[in-house]
Amino acid sequence: YACRGGAPPCRRGDTDARTCPVTEDGLSGKIEKLAALIAGAGRIVVFTGAGVSTESGIPDFRSPGGIWSRFDPEEFTIYRFLASPETRLKQWRLLIESGLIADARPNGAHRAVAELERLGKLDCIITQNIDNLHQKAGSAPERVYELHGTMNHARCLGCGQRYAMADLLSRIRLEDGAPLCPECDGILKPDVIFFGEQLPAEALRQAVEHSRRCDLLIVVGSSLVVFPAAYMPVYAKEAGAAVAIVNLTVTDFDDRADLVIHGKAGEVMPLVLEAVKRILGVAGARGEPG
Ligand code: APR
Repeated sequence: YACRGGAPPCRRGDTDARTCPVTEDGLSGKIEKLAALIAGAGRIVVFTGAGVSTESGIPDFRSPGGIWSRFDPEEFTIYRFLASPETRLKQWRLLIESGLIADARPNGAHRAVAELERLGKLDCIITQNIDNLHQKAGSAPERVYELHGTMNHARCLGCGQRYAMADLLSRIRLEDGAPLCPECDGILKPDVIFFGEQLPAEALRQAVEHSRRCDLLIVVGSSLVVFPAAYMPVYAKEAGAAVAIVNLTVTDFDDRADLVIHGKAGEVMPLVLEAVKRILGVAGARGEPG
């Protein structure tokens, strides 16, 4: 990426955004720097957590008022789910009443990431979210690795039949107790990964491989406290990639990141995308004719 030289915030002809003297103080300077990293990168991974979906109305887990301030994580273990129809029903209720499967719409952050993909500036998305909002925003499903599963489907533990959650919820009534498989009356489990459950092996393998091969990993909306998902920025950093974090609050990885933007994903990511389009000279970028 040839530095525009002299145009704010760059002051001299740096060609590597990581050494560019962009002043870190202003948000606009950081947005320009992240855009420069994206424009100059070949393999880009976006790693998202619940913070990318809060502006779509879905609560995150650890912010004040988040899921874990209203529900006990101990209730979300696979052991509790399998223990009895009563604990199963309680978890179905929590998943439904917690807003985790509200009929939410993607926000500007999901849409900006989907557009980066269309610009050829995205290798894959690794997400901890189960809300399917990246796919709803237009990201190619085959490029979205859902490490903690998805609420988009449920599966029968007896006959293996898979059901679209939307259809299932229209057919079952939680008043009748924990949902059973319409085919065989077996135990129905949402395709989410409960605490104590193995992560989906292929998604995890792909996520580790892409994190180790990328040259830029961008964390958007995660506290980075749940492993093995939170190892992805570690793998990227160890492989020599740049790591950028867009998050409302400080994370444990901030001091190892090349760039940290503390802000709302739904506001920051569209601004980053516009800056990338300006740098790439993509027609229609805001602030440019055409
Ligand atoms: N923009 C940017 N960041 C945000 C926004 C926003 N609009 N809203 C919240 N955040 C930040 C919060 O400050 C927090 O640091 O997003 C982060 C969300 O962190 P968590 O609630 O811990 O969610 P996540 O990191 O996805 O949790 C990982 O924990 O309980 C498990 O399975 C659950 O997948 C989840 C995993």
